Amino acid sequence: MNKTIEDIPGVGPAIAEKLSEAGYTDILDIAIASPMDLADKCDIGAKKAADIIEGAKLCTEVGGFETGSGILEKRRQITKLTTGSKELDKLIGGGIESQSITEFFGEFGSSKTQLCFQLAVNATLPEERGGLNSDVAIIDSENTFRPERVIQMANYLQVDPEETLNKIHVARAYNSSHQVLLVDKAGDLAKELKIKLLIVDSLTSHFRAEYVGRGALAGRQQILNKHMHDLLNFATINNAAIVVTNQVAAKPDMFFGDPTRPIGGHIVGHTATFRIYLRKGKAGKRVARLIDSPNLPEGEAVFSVTEDGIKD
Ligand code: GTP
Ligand code: MG
Repeated sequence: MNKTIEDIPGVGPAIAEKLSEAGYTDILDIAIASPMDLADKCDIGAKKAADIIEGAKLCTEVGGFETGSGILEKRRQITKLTTGSKELDKLIGGGIESQSITEFFGEFGSSKTQLCFQLAVNATLPEERGGLNSDVAIIDSENTFRPERVIQMANYLQVDPEETLNKIHVARAYNSSHQVLLVDKAGDLAKELKIKLLIVDSLTSHFRAEYVGRGALAGRQQILNKHMHDLLNFATINNAAIVVTNQVAAKPDMFFGDPTRPIGGHIVGHTATFRIYLRKGKAGKRVARLIDSPNLPEGEAVFSVTEDGIKD
């Protein structure tokens, strides 16, 4: 694809400049943008934005029909990132996949954040070691990122802790709208660096705290939906893996009476490709259960959290 944004029908130099200034430097970014977003960021009319997106789709063939072999070819580029536990890797079909969103949900202390640390460290490893040989972006909404844990895990894997920390880029999200915005920022970062893993820990805590009561539910789900789609776009554009964490409703959620149901209801559930439920087991062990996957059987895996990181 050697076309530039000026090749999109209806995009002249003036619009091209507006697009670039708003960060839309590549046709694919535009093809998968939402008209509202594009109109807003480029300060153009909604109709114009929709036309530009249509034009971009034509240029890239995004949104049209694809042959099964075309999809197979795209799926061949999918990479797999090891979790550090062979059992857990096996459960999810060999590791965390790129081009999808993997959601870990469970109650406090079920090791969601520990898994995020381990995945971040592992992503910096070379492919031969189950890594992605890449930098990592983490959106931290609970202020629980701990470089000390990264150092322990890097030491165990015999990689340079400082180099590892330098490849992990952490942004603290102060509220839900800031969190949504940080996905755009991660997109900018991915233009300069190879980012094959984007983590959001936690996906839902700000949303849960800010949108309280039944009246706020529709608004919450709408923004959460946009957020999930932004994440999926990041995964598609960068052939990256997305990992998000989610709490379970301690009090019965409005959607579900069951206290082990993840927050966010069907919006999060339908956009995440892999959902893994974590719970504490006996003697410090953790149990992971694959909830629904398009191509894998449901099952369970046991792993443990140690000072050295995630292990079988
Ligand atoms: P919330 O964010 O509160 O919902 O929980 P979480 O699922 O993110 O839990 P987290 O990943 O923070 O798990 C915390 C647990 O990991 C602790 O209860 C410890 O059991 C374990 N853990 C953390 N650090 C270490 C460590 O250095 N050594 C060992 N053995 N366990 C650790
Ligand atoms: Mg946590």
